[in-house]
Amino acid sequence: MGQNIITFPFLFVPGQKWKNRRKQLNPTFNLANLVSFFPIFNTIGNSLADKFDVLAKGNKDVDSDHDNQINYKTIEDFINRAVLVAACRTTMGTTTNFLDTDDEGIVEAYKVLFKISSVKSYKPWLQLKPIFKMSKLYKIDVKYNELIDMFVKKIVNEKNEIWKENRENNKSREDDDFEGTTVPPVTRRNFIEHIFHLAENGELTMQDIEDESSSMILAASETVSNSLSLLLLCLASHPDCQHKLQQEIDETLNGAEITIGDIQNMKYLDMVMNEGLRLMPTIPMLLRNVSDDFYLQKDVVVPKDTFIIIDTFHIHRDRKLWGPHAEDFYPEHFLPENAASRNPFIFLPFCRGLRFCIGWRYSLFLAKVFLVKILRNYHIETNVRLKDLKFISGISLKVKDKKNVHFTVSKR
Ligand code: HEM
Repeated sequence: MGQNIITFPFLFVPGQKWKNRRKQLNPTFNLANLVSFFPIFNTIGNSLADKFDVLAKGNKDVDSDHDNQINYKTIEDFINRAVLVAACRTTMGTTTNFLDTDDEGIVEAYKVLFKISSVKSYKPWLQLKPIFKMSKLYKIDVKYNELIDMFVKKIVNEKNEIWKENRENNKSREDDDFEGTTVPPVTRRNFIEHIFHLAENGELTMQDIEDESSSMILAASETVSNSLSLLLLCLASHPDCQHKLQQEIDETLNGAEITIGDIQNMKYLDMVMNEGLRLMPTIPMLLRNVSDDFYLQKDVVVPKDTFIIIDTFHIHRDRKLWGPHAEDFYPEHFLPENAASRNPFIFLPFCRGLRFCIGWRYSLFLAKVFLVKILRNYHIETNVRLKDLKFISGISLKVKDKKNVHFTVSKR
């Protein structure tokens, strides 16, 4: 079995090794590549919207009670599956059908592994292998890692064969995502093709490729789907914001396809997305090991090797920093005039500094396309008030007592 993916090989490698790897991987997230993903985001977004159609009709096969209330988990699961399909397609160039089936248990495996990573973040002793081996999570961890390992290994091998063939025939990409586009070949490699090139130069082994692909999909799917599910909850409990966003969507979109231009033109969409990430930051805390003594104030030193937690969740809700609406869903926080005077380091959904999220733009594009696809056609309500919500915080922020949180979906 390969390196245990829950260690997130790239995310947690230290120092120079991380610097090199980040430099190697940055090009896969360049704008030209991301723009080329729009047709994929649109297609999967349409399938996701179709799922909402089923929910809106009150299909008894889903978790809907007689009032046509849909449990939060059902919506979260659909979004999670759609994001996983997008992540597999854009990262490894492979088409999956997770929105409809999960015969091999891959969706479940990713979910469970992310949960275990989360537990390890607030129980750091479990990061020590001998201790972890004694915990009851270990067996589950091994089982699901093996499953993902097999899934990824198979795809990586298949893709590697195709890639080698294409290299021999001087073709740059085996699928037709770029047919008719002007994206130049060098910039249009997806993640896996890019790392095949690195492997060719001896910079990565096949095992590295499998580990990096697994962890990239894991990092992408859980974060984006959780953010989007939480944002839907915000909008469902703020019909005025939802209505305003729907107006913007109606005024902006011409055809069925959402383009990058549409996304860039929707300013309120951007405010809403940022506000969701502020009030409900998917990654609610950042963990750091101090590499050198540094001063917080003149007389307050944080010594080398201290383990620190940056509490994003509470920084994002601090009235001293955000004003009287700090604990409300209030997209006006992100009006240009309000944002201009603010210290940028009080808004940390994707972290800041050297180790900021490599997938931030990818996430925003994907989440926005999915959100627009949903709200263009459906209106969402909920039975909860945001103020009453409680959260479980690990690597990712989760709603507590999900079984009591419901949506109602109706066709617009
Ligand atoms: C809404 C979605 C996302 C959020 C809120 C988010 C947030 C974050 C945050 C806060 C970090 C810094 C973690 C730390 O240093 O402790 C991070 C790092 C990272 N994220 Fe994301 N992320 C998202 C989506 C993605 C996606 C889609 C990908 C990949 C396609 C991705 C890949 C990564 C990687 C590889 C790192 C490590 C970067 C490094 O150490 O240089 N993330 N993310």
